[in-house]
Amino acid sequence: MFDQASIEKFEQIATPFYYYDMELLGHTVDTLADLARKYDVNVHYAVKANVEKRILETVSSRGIGADCVSGNEVRRALECGFPADRTVFAGVGKSDREIYEAMNAGIEAFNCESLHEIYVINAMAAAFGLRARVAARINPNIDAHTHQYVTTGLFENKFGIAHHEFDTLAELLGRCGNIDFTGLHFHIGSQITEVGSVFALEAERVGEIVTYFEDKGLHVGSVDFGGGLGVDYEAPDASPVAPFETWFRTITGSYCRRPGQSLHFEPGRSVVAQCGTLVTRVLFVKSGETKNFLILDAGMNDLIRPALYGAYHKIENLSSCFRKGFSEMQAYDVVGPVCESSDVWGQGRLLPLSVRGDLMAIRSAGAYGQVMASRYNLRDFAPAVFSDELDSAPCYTDYFSMPASHPERSRGYVD
Ligand SMILES: Cc1ncc(COP(=O)(O)O)c(C=O)c1O
Repeated sequence: MFDQASIEKFEQIATPFYYYDMELLGHTVDTLADLARKYDVNVHYAVKANVEKRILETVSSRGIGADCVSGNEVRRALECGFPADRTVFAGVGKSDREIYEAMNAGIEAFNCESLHEIYVINAMAAAFGLRARVAARINPNIDAHTHQYVTTGLFENKFGIAHHEFDTLAELLGRCGNIDFTGLHFHIGSQITEVGSVFALEAERVGEIVTYFEDKGLHVGSVDFGGGLGVDYEAPDASPVAPFETWFRTITGSYCRRPGQSLHFEPGRSVVAQCGTLVTRVLFVKSGETKNFLILDAGMNDLIRPALYGAYHKIENLSSCFRKGFSEMQAYDVVGPVCESSDVWGQGRLLPLSVRGDLMAIRSAGAYGQVMASRYNLRDFAPAVFSDELDSAPCYTDYFSMPASHPERSRGYVD
Protein backbone atom coordinates (compact mmCIF):
# COMPACT_ATOMS: atom_id res chain seq x y z
CA MET A 1 0.00 0.00 0.00
CA PHE A 2 2.82 2.44 0.73
CA ASP A 3 5.25 3.37 -2.01
CA GLN A 4 8.90 4.11 -1.38
CA ALA A 5 8.47 7.87 -1.86
CA SER A 6 5.76 8.03 0.82
CA ILE A 7 7.80 6.00 3.28
CA GLU A 8 10.83 8.23 2.69
CA LYS A 9 8.62 11.21 3.42
CA PHE A 10 7.24 9.55 6.55
CA GLU A 11 10.86 9.35 7.75
CA GLN A 12 10.90 13.14 7.93
CA ILE A 13 7.76 13.53 10.01
CA ALA A 14 7.55 13.40 13.78
CA THR A 15 5.56 10.36 14.88
CA PRO A 16 2.93 9.30 15.75
CA PHE A 17 0.60 10.70 13.11
CA TYR A 18 -2.53 9.64 11.28
CA TYR A 19 -1.92 9.23 7.57
CA TYR A 20 -4.93 9.40 5.27
CA ASP A 21 -4.80 8.02 1.73
CA MET A 22 -7.05 10.53 -0.03
CA GLU A 23 -6.98 8.61 -3.31
CA LEU A 24 -8.44 5.55 -1.63
CA LEU A 25 -11.02 7.68 0.19
CA GLY A 26 -12.03 9.32 -3.12
CA HIS A 27 -12.34 5.93 -4.80
CA THR A 28 -14.36 4.55 -1.88
CA VAL A 29 -16.87 7.40 -1.86
CA ASP A 30 -17.16 7.38 -5.65
CA THR A 31 -17.99 3.67 -5.51
CA LEU A 32 -20.49 4.29 -2.72
CA ALA A 33 -22.18 7.18 -4.53
CA ASP A 34 -22.43 5.16 -7.79
CA LEU A 35 -23.97 2.20 -5.95
CA ALA A 36 -26.41 4.46 -4.12
CA ARG A 37 -27.67 5.64 -7.51
CA LYS A 38 -27.78 2.10 -8.88
CA TYR A 39 -29.86 0.80 -5.95
CA ASP A 40 -31.83 4.04 -5.54
CA VAL A 41 -30.90 4.50 -1.89
CA ASN A 42 -29.74 7.50 0.17
CA VAL A 43 -26.42 7.37 1.97
CA HIS A 44 -25.61 9.39 5.11
CA TYR A 45 -22.00 9.11 6.22
CA ALA A 46 -21.84 8.47 10.00
CA VAL A 47 -19.72 11.45 10.92
CA LYS A 48 -18.74 9.95 14.28
CA ALA A 49 -16.29 7.61 12.55
CA ASN A 50 -13.98 10.44 11.52
CA VAL A 51 -14.59 14.18 11.74
CA GLU A 52 -11.45 15.48 10.03
CA LYS A 53 -12.51 18.47 7.93
CA ARG A 54 -10.81 17.26 4.73
CA ILE A 55 -12.44 13.85 5.07
CA LEU A 56 -15.88 15.35 5.58
CA GLU A 57 -15.40 17.68 2.61
CA THR A 58 -14.37 14.78 0.40
CA VAL A 59 -17.42 12.74 1.41
CA SER A 60 -19.90 15.62 1.11
CA SER A 61 -18.52 16.57 -2.32
CA ARG A 62 -19.92 13.27 -3.70
CA GLY A 63 -23.50 14.17 -2.76
CA ILE A 64 -23.55 11.90 0.29
CA GLY A 65 -25.55 13.06 3.34
CA ALA A 66 -24.52 13.06 7.01
CA ASP A 67 -25.59 11.08 10.07
CA CYS A 68 -24.71 12.92 13.29
CA VAL A 69 -24.96 12.13 16.98
CA SER A 70 -24.28 15.50 18.61
CA GLY A 71 -25.00 19.16 18.02
CA ASN A 72 -21.31 19.76 17.33
CA GLU A 73 -21.30 17.01 14.72
CA VAL A 74 -24.33 18.61 13.03
CA ARG A 75 -22.55 21.97 13.00
CA ARG A 76 -19.31 20.44 11.67
CA ALA A 77 -21.21 18.53 8.95
CA LEU A 78 -22.95 21.68 7.76
CA GLU A 79 -19.64 23.61 7.78
CA CYS A 80 -18.06 20.87 5.67
CA GLY A 81 -20.66 21.00 2.91
CA PHE A 82 -23.34 18.49 3.90
CA PRO A 83 -26.73 20.05 3.16
CA ALA A 84 -29.05 20.38 6.17
CA ASP A 85 -31.84 18.59 4.34
CA ARG A 86 -29.58 15.52 3.96
CA THR A 87 -28.38 15.54 7.56
CA VAL A 88 -29.97 13.30 10.19
CA PHE A 89 -29.40 13.49 13.93
CA ALA A 90 -29.52 10.39 16.18
CA GLY A 91 -28.39 9.79 19.76
CA VAL A 92 -30.16 8.82 22.96
CA GLY A 93 -29.46 12.04 24.84
CA LYS A 94 -29.87 15.21 22.81
CA SER A 95 -29.76 18.40 24.87
CA ASP A 96 -32.34 21.16 24.43
CA ARG A 97 -29.71 23.40 22.82
CA GLU A 98 -28.70 20.66 20.38
CA ILE A 99 -32.34 20.06 19.48
CA TYR A 100 -33.04 23.75 19.00
CA GLU A 101 -30.00 24.39 16.81
CA ALA A 102 -30.62 21.37 14.59
CA MET A 103 -34.32 22.22 14.27
CA ASN A 104 -33.45 25.78 13.38
CA ALA A 105 -30.96 24.57 10.76
CA GLY A 106 -33.78 22.55 9.14
CA ILE A 107 -32.17 19.11 9.26
CA GLU A 108 -33.70 16.21 7.34
CA ALA A 109 -34.78 14.33 10.48
CA PHE A 110 -34.23 13.74 14.16
CA ASN A 111 -33.81 10.01 14.64
CA CYS A 112 -35.56 9.86 18.01
CA GLU A 113 -34.60 7.17 20.46
CA SER A 114 -37.38 7.46 23.06
CA LEU A 115 -41.00 8.53 23.38
CA HIS A 116 -39.89 11.18 25.83
CA GLU A 117 -37.57 12.69 23.21
CA ILE A 118 -40.39 12.89 20.65
CA TYR A 119 -42.58 14.56 23.24
CA VAL A 120 -39.89 17.15 24.06
CA ILE A 121 -39.08 17.89 20.40
CA ASN A 122 -42.78 18.43 19.71
CA ALA A 123 -43.06 20.79 22.68
CA MET A 124 -39.92 22.70 21.67
CA ALA A 125 -41.14 23.05 18.08
CA ALA A 126 -44.36 24.57 19.43
CA ALA A 127 -42.49 26.88 21.79
CA PHE A 128 -40.17 28.20 19.06
CA GLY A 129 -42.75 28.30 16.28
CA LEU A 130 -40.80 25.75 14.22
CA ARG A 131 -41.58 22.35 12.73
CA ALA A 132 -39.36 19.32 13.13
CA ARG A 133 -39.11 16.21 11.00
CA VAL A 134 -38.93 13.13 13.18
CA ALA A 135 -38.15 9.48 12.53
CA ALA A 136 -38.50 6.89 15.27
CA ARG A 137 -35.49 4.72 15.99
CA ILE A 138 -36.72 1.24 16.68
CA ASN A 139 -34.87 -1.49 18.49
CA PRO A 140 -35.50 -4.51 16.24
CA ASN A 141 -34.04 -7.06 18.71
CA ILE A 142 -31.56 -8.58 16.27
CA ASP A 143 -28.23 -10.14 17.12
CA ALA A 144 -25.63 -8.52 14.84
CA HIS A 145 -23.08 -11.26 15.66
CA THR A 146 -20.45 -8.72 16.51
CA HIS A 147 -18.62 -7.47 19.62
CA GLN A 148 -20.91 -6.92 22.63
CA TYR A 149 -19.88 -3.25 22.88
CA VAL A 150 -20.84 -2.50 19.28
CA THR A 151 -24.11 -4.41 19.10
CA THR A 152 -27.01 -2.03 19.50
CA GLY A 153 -30.15 -3.73 18.27
CA LEU A 154 -30.75 -6.30 21.01
CA PHE A 155 -33.36 -6.26 23.75
CA GLU A 156 -32.67 -4.00 26.74
CA ASN A 157 -30.20 -1.90 24.87
CA LYS A 158 -30.18 1.82 25.58
CA PHE A 159 -30.70 2.57 21.87
CA GLY A 160 -34.04 2.82 20.14
CA ILE A 161 -37.65 2.32 21.14
CA ALA A 162 -38.57 -1.14 22.39
CA HIS A 163 -41.37 -3.35 21.15
CA HIS A 164 -43.61 -2.90 24.20
CA GLU A 165 -43.85 0.83 23.43
CA PHE A 166 -44.92 0.51 19.77
CA ASP A 167 -48.60 1.17 20.44
CA THR A 168 -47.89 4.20 22.61
CA LEU A 169 -45.48 5.47 19.94
CA ALA A 170 -48.12 5.28 17.21
CA GLU A 171 -50.61 7.03 19.45
CA LEU A 172 -48.09 9.74 20.46
CA LEU A 173 -47.12 10.45 16.84
CA GLY A 174 -50.80 10.83 16.01
CA ARG A 175 -51.26 13.63 18.52
CA CYS A 176 -47.96 15.59 18.15
CA GLY A 177 -49.04 18.52 16.01
CA ASN A 178 -45.69 20.26 15.61
CA ILE A 179 -43.65 17.45 14.14
CA ASP A 180 -43.75 15.67 10.80
CA PHE A 181 -43.26 11.95 11.10
CA THR A 182 -40.91 10.84 8.30
CA GLY A 183 -40.39 7.15 8.97
CA LEU A 184 -38.49 4.52 10.89
CA HIS A 185 -34.82 4.22 11.74
CA PHE A 186 -32.77 1.16 12.73
CA HIS A 187 -29.14 0.39 13.49
CA ILE A 188 -28.24 -3.04 14.79
CA GLY A 189 -24.51 -2.82 15.42
CA SER A 190 -21.10 -2.26 13.93
CA GLN A 191 -18.34 -4.25 12.21
CA ILE A 192 -20.87 -6.74 10.83
CA THR A 193 -19.08 -9.19 8.58
CA GLU A 194 -21.82 -11.78 8.09
CA VAL A 195 -23.31 -9.37 5.57
CA GLY A 196 -25.65 -11.72 3.70
CA SER A 197 -27.26 -13.36 6.72
CA VAL A 198 -27.36 -10.56 9.32
CA PHE A 199 -28.57 -7.79 7.01
CA ALA A 200 -31.15 -10.07 5.36
CA LEU A 201 -32.51 -10.75 8.84
CA GLU A 202 -32.56 -7.03 9.59
CA ALA A 203 -34.44 -6.32 6.34
CA GLU A 204 -37.06 -8.98 7.05
CA ARG A 205 -37.61 -7.78 10.62
CA VAL A 206 -37.80 -4.16 9.43
CA GLY A 207 -40.47 -5.21 6.91
CA GLU A 208 -42.59 -6.67 9.73
CA ILE A 209 -42.20 -3.55 11.87
CA VAL A 210 -43.10 -1.23 8.97
CA THR A 211 -46.25 -3.28 8.37
CA TYR A 212 -47.12 -3.02 12.05
CA PHE A 213 -47.00 0.80 11.98
CA GLU A 214 -48.80 1.00 8.64
CA ASP A 215 -51.57 -1.07 10.17
CA LYS A 216 -51.78 1.58 12.89
CA GLY A 217 -52.46 4.14 10.16
CA LEU A 218 -48.98 5.73 9.97
CA HIS A 219 -47.38 6.59 6.64
CA VAL A 220 -43.80 5.29 6.73
CA GLY A 221 -42.21 7.45 4.04
CA SER A 222 -38.61 6.52 4.80
CA VAL A 223 -36.77 3.55 6.21
CA ASP A 224 -33.23 3.98 7.50
CA PHE A 225 -31.29 0.75 7.94
CA GLY A 226 -28.41 2.41 9.82
CA GLY A 227 -24.77 1.47 9.33
CA GLY A 228 -22.70 -1.44 10.51
CA LEU A 229 -21.01 -2.79 7.40
CA GLY A 230 -17.72 -4.37 8.51
CA VAL A 231 -14.26 -4.01 6.99
CA ASP A 232 -11.37 -6.44 6.60
CA TYR A 233 -8.95 -5.58 9.40
CA GLU A 234 -6.84 -8.68 8.72
CA ALA A 235 -6.12 -7.96 5.06
CA PRO A 236 -6.73 -4.27 4.32
CA ASP A 237 -4.92 -4.37 0.97
CA ALA A 238 -6.99 -7.33 -0.24
CA SER A 239 -10.27 -5.48 0.43
CA PRO A 240 -9.60 -1.74 0.41
CA VAL A 241 -13.23 -0.98 -0.46
CA ALA A 242 -15.95 -2.51 1.73
CA PRO A 243 -18.63 -4.75 0.16
CA PHE A 244 -21.17 -1.93 -0.27
CA GLU A 245 -22.84 -3.65 -3.20
CA THR A 246 -23.50 -6.88 -1.26
CA TRP A 247 -24.95 -4.77 1.57
CA PHE A 248 -27.31 -2.78 -0.69
CA ARG A 249 -28.26 -5.85 -2.72
CA THR A 250 -28.99 -7.90 0.40
CA ILE A 251 -31.21 -5.28 1.98
CA THR A 252 -33.03 -4.09 -1.14
CA GLY A 253 -33.53 -7.75 -2.13
CA SER A 254 -34.93 -8.80 1.25
CA TYR A 255 -37.06 -5.76 2.07
CA CYS A 256 -40.30 -5.04 0.23
CA ARG A 257 -40.03 -1.33 -0.52
CA ARG A 258 -43.36 0.50 -0.54
CA PRO A 259 -44.17 2.75 -3.53
CA GLY A 260 -42.47 6.14 -3.12
CA GLN A 261 -40.65 5.06 0.02
CA SER A 262 -37.03 6.23 0.41
CA LEU A 263 -34.37 3.88 1.80
CA HIS A 264 -31.40 5.17 3.78
CA PHE A 265 -28.04 3.79 4.91
CA GLU A 266 -25.55 5.22 7.40
CA PRO A 267 -22.10 3.73 6.83
CA GLY A 268 -19.29 5.09 8.99
CA ARG A 269 -16.45 2.63 9.47
CA SER A 270 -16.74 1.18 5.97
CA VAL A 271 -16.21 4.62 4.40
CA VAL A 272 -13.06 5.69 6.25
CA ALA A 273 -11.38 2.78 8.07
CA GLN A 274 -9.12 1.59 5.28
CA CYS A 275 -7.85 4.99 4.16
CA GLY A 276 -6.31 5.69 7.59
CA THR A 277 -3.04 4.42 9.06
CA LEU A 278 -1.49 5.31 12.37
CA VAL A 279 2.21 5.78 11.62
CA THR A 280 4.47 5.26 14.61
CA ARG A 281 8.05 4.33 15.44
CA VAL A 282 9.80 1.73 17.53
CA LEU A 283 11.17 3.43 20.62
CA PHE A 284 12.70 0.42 22.31
CA VAL A 285 13.12 -3.31 21.86
CA LYS A 286 13.04 -5.34 25.03
CA SER A 287 13.36 -9.03 25.85
CA GLY A 288 11.05 -10.37 28.52
CA GLU A 289 11.32 -13.79 30.15
CA THR A 290 9.69 -15.58 27.27
CA LYS A 291 8.91 -12.95 24.68
CA ASN A 292 10.22 -9.90 22.91
CA PHE A 293 8.52 -6.54 23.16
CA LEU A 294 8.44 -3.76 20.63
CA ILE A 295 7.58 -0.50 22.37
CA LEU A 296 6.07 2.02 19.98
CA ASP A 297 5.61 5.76 20.34
CA ALA A 298 1.84 5.46 19.64
CA GLY A 299 -0.41 4.26 22.39
CA MET A 300 -3.99 3.56 23.39
CA ASN A 301 -4.61 7.29 23.78
CA ASP A 302 -4.04 7.64 20.00
CA LEU A 303 -6.17 4.64 19.00
CA ILE A 304 -8.16 2.99 21.74
CA ARG A 305 -9.88 0.17 19.82
CA PRO A 306 -7.43 -2.63 20.76
CA ALA A 307 -7.51 -1.67 24.46
CA LEU A 308 -11.27 -1.06 24.48
CA TYR A 309 -12.58 -3.97 22.40
CA GLY A 310 -9.53 -6.20 21.95
CA ALA A 311 -9.80 -5.09 18.31
CA TYR A 312 -7.29 -6.38 15.76
CA HIS A 313 -5.26 -4.00 13.60
CA LYS A 314 -2.67 -5.25 11.15
CA ILE A 315 0.84 -4.03 12.04
CA GLU A 316 3.57 -3.60 9.42
CA ASN A 317 7.20 -2.63 9.67
CA LEU A 318 7.63 -0.06 6.87
CA SER A 319 11.36 0.44 7.36
CA SER A 320 12.12 -3.23 6.81
CA CYS A 321 11.17 -2.83 3.11
CA PHE A 322 14.43 -0.94 2.59
CA ARG A 323 16.73 -3.30 4.36
CA LYS A 324 18.90 -5.30 2.04
CA GLY A 325 18.88 -9.08 2.06
CA PHE A 326 16.72 -11.55 3.87
CA SER A 327 14.79 -10.14 6.80
CA GLU A 328 14.56 -12.60 9.67
CA MET A 329 11.06 -12.85 11.19
CA GLN A 330 10.47 -12.61 14.89
CA ALA A 331 7.41 -12.80 17.16
CA TYR A 332 6.80 -9.66 19.19
CA ASP A 333 4.32 -8.34 21.66
CA VAL A 334 3.82 -4.87 20.24
CA VAL A 335 2.90 -2.36 22.92
CA GLY A 336 2.40 1.36 23.45
CA PRO A 337 3.97 3.71 25.99
CA VAL A 338 0.85 4.42 28.07
CA CYS A 339 0.88 3.30 31.69
CA GLU A 340 -1.86 0.68 31.33
CA SER A 341 -1.37 -3.06 30.78
CA SER A 342 -4.08 -2.96 28.14
CA ASP A 343 -1.98 -0.62 25.99
CA VAL A 344 -1.10 -3.47 23.63
CA TRP A 345 -1.22 -3.32 19.83
CA GLY A 346 -0.91 -7.04 19.34
CA GLN A 347 0.56 -10.13 20.97
CA GLY A 348 2.91 -12.58 19.30
CA ARG A 349 2.90 -10.65 16.03
CA LEU A 350 5.30 -12.06 13.48
CA LEU A 351 7.30 -9.15 12.05
CA PRO A 352 10.64 -8.65 10.34
CA LEU A 353 13.43 -8.18 12.89
CA SER A 354 12.73 -4.66 14.12
CA VAL A 355 15.05 -2.06 15.59
CA ARG A 356 14.79 1.28 17.32
CA GLY A 357 13.60 3.96 14.92
CA ASP A 358 11.76 1.60 12.55
CA LEU A 359 8.60 3.10 11.12
CA MET A 360 5.55 0.99 11.87
CA ALA A 361 2.09 1.16 10.32
CA ILE A 362 -1.04 0.34 12.30
CA ARG A 363 -3.47 -0.25 9.50
CA SER A 364 -7.24 0.33 9.05
CA ALA A 365 -7.14 3.15 11.60
CA GLY A 366 -9.31 5.69 9.77
CA ALA A 367 -12.53 4.92 11.65
CA TYR A 368 -13.05 5.38 15.39
CA GLY A 369 -9.34 6.21 15.70
CA GLN A 370 -8.48 9.88 15.73
CA VAL A 371 -11.99 10.78 16.91
CA MET A 372 -11.55 8.73 20.08
CA ALA A 373 -8.05 9.98 20.89
CA SER A 374 -7.41 11.42 24.32
CA ARG A 375 -4.61 13.17 26.10
CA TYR A 376 -4.34 10.46 28.75
CA ASN A 377 -0.91 10.56 30.43
CA LEU A 378 -0.90 14.15 29.09
CA ARG A 379 0.33 12.86 25.77
CA ASP A 380 -0.01 15.01 22.67
CA PHE A 381 -2.64 14.32 20.03
CA ALA A 382 -1.32 12.61 16.90
CA PRO A 383 -1.94 15.02 14.00
CA ALA A 384 -3.46 14.17 10.60
CA VAL A 385 -1.30 14.04 7.47
CA PHE A 386 -3.03 13.71 4.10
CA SER A 387 -1.48 11.85 1.17
CA ASP A 388 -2.06 14.74 -1.23
CA GLU A 389 -0.35 17.18 1.15
CA LEU A 390 2.62 14.98 2.03
CA ASP A 391 5.10 17.37 0.45
CA SER A 392 4.00 20.16 2.74
CA ALA A 393 3.65 18.01 5.87
CA PRO A 394 5.58 19.48 8.79
CA CYS A 395 9.04 17.95 9.01
CA TYR A 396 10.90 17.47 12.25
CA THR A 397 12.70 20.56 13.37
CA ASP A 398 14.72 19.61 16.41
CA TYR A 399 16.55 16.74 18.02
CA PHE A 400 13.53 15.50 19.94
CA SER A 401 11.09 15.37 17.09
CA MET A 402 13.76 13.87 14.86
CA PRO A 403 13.16 10.22 14.06
CA ALA A 404 15.14 7.90 16.25
CA SER A 405 16.52 6.39 13.04
CA HIS A 406 18.26 9.66 12.16
CA PRO A 407 22.03 9.23 12.22
CA GLU A 408 22.38 12.18 14.58
CA ARG A 409 20.22 10.57 17.21
CA SER A 410 21.32 7.76 19.45
CA ARG A 411 20.01 4.43 18.23
CA GLY A 412 20.93 2.56 21.40
CA TYR A 413 22.65 -0.75 21.72
CA VAL A 414 20.08 -2.96 20.00
CA ASP A 415 21.36 -2.29 16.51
C1 LIG B 1 -27.22 5.27 14.47
C2 LIG B 1 -25.94 4.88 13.86
N1 LIG B 1 -25.81 4.91 12.53
C3 LIG B 1 -24.65 4.58 11.92
C4 LIG B 1 -23.55 4.19 12.65
C5 LIG B 1 -22.29 3.85 11.93
O1 LIG B 1 -21.93 2.53 12.11
P1 LIG B 1 -20.70 1.92 11.32
O2 LIG B 1 -19.53 2.78 11.57
O3 LIG B 1 -20.55 0.58 11.91
O4 LIG B 1 -21.08 1.87 9.88
C6 LIG B 1 -23.64 4.11 14.04
C7 LIG B 1 -22.49 3.66 14.84
O5 LIG B 1 -22.46 3.56 16.01
C8 LIG B 1 -24.87 4.47 14.67
O6 LIG B 1 -25.00 4.44 15.99
